[in-house]
Amino acid sequence: MLYDKTIGHPTISKYPMASSYVQKFIKSWINQVEGEVLEEVYDSLSVALSQPSSQIGYKIYTFDGGAHYLATRETVAMCSKGTTGLQTWQACLAMCQWATENCHIFQNKKVLELGCGVGLLGGVISHMCDQVTLTDHHQSVLRAAQHTLDINNINNGNVSPLDWTRIGDVEDEVDVVVAADVVFDRTILPHLVKTIKNKLGSPTGRDKVAYVCSTIRNKDTYNTFIEEINDQGLAIDNLDVSGLKSVYFSGTDVIRLIKLRLTI
Ligand SMILES: C[S@@+](CC[C@H](N)C(=O)[O-])C[C@H]1O[C@@H](n2cnc3c(N)ncnc32)[C@H](O)[C@@H]1O
Repeated sequence: MLYDKTIGHPTISKYPMASSYVQKFIKSWINQVEGEVLEEVYDSLSVALSQPSSQIGYKIYTFDGGAHYLATRETVAMCSKGTTGLQTWQACLAMCQWATENCHIFQNKKVLELGCGVGLLGGVISHMCDQVTLTDHHQSVLRAAQHTLDINNINNGNVSPLDWTRIGDVEDEVDVVVAADVVFDRTILPHLVKTIKNKLGSPTGRDKVAYVCSTIRNKDTYNTFIEEINDQGLAIDNLDVSGLKSVYFSGTDVIRLIKLRLTI
């Protein structure tokens, strides 16, 4: 699944994957496969094991039953260059899976992503929507997101700086706001919610909506987020993501997906 879509691809095949990622992927694949594993798979594992470990490399994700694939350049470390945005997180993977199962939400829409990281979610949604803008506040993250758009030939996407503590950087009208794994720092939550509210509130008369997917690491932090949403007067719907299945996320994390609207 990882290789057959990418070997020989004119752009993606020239970018090396981090050897630690290749090892982890093949080991996990061998553990999950039912039946006999081809000898070539073990050969690939021994090649990966013999290579020096690299901290950054390319990952290739397939979505929608393999109909689409997307490459990103990511770090192995959770935090690098002072940001957590240089690798893809579980809530993002869950949200990508959810998006592919609910692509009607994005059809003919202008989408804005907050805290985009390397740009996997925005890249996946670009296949469904009219236009997508990937935003973040960190320069290295913005460069990584732009690289994702470039190597995947995504022409209906763009990258723009947007810091939740400085509302107003992206002026374009949007229909749908998305964000994955952005609930981690209590002090920044009022700014995050204010940014979402601001993007839902600009005057077009269109029905705007925001979707935020989170891994619940700390219940108090998540509850603070929900309280902030209530305090700022947004309506919340909890969406059921218990049935989501993907080869990419482990299923051990507790994932929540909420839909937000302005109350009238
Ligand atoms: C845990 S990462 C999640 C990245 C990506 N959404 C994912 O799930 O893989 C959090 C992201 O939020 C961004 N972020 C943190 N504080 C921010 C702020 N004040 N304004 C905009 N983005 C911010 C970080 O740069 C990082 O890309």
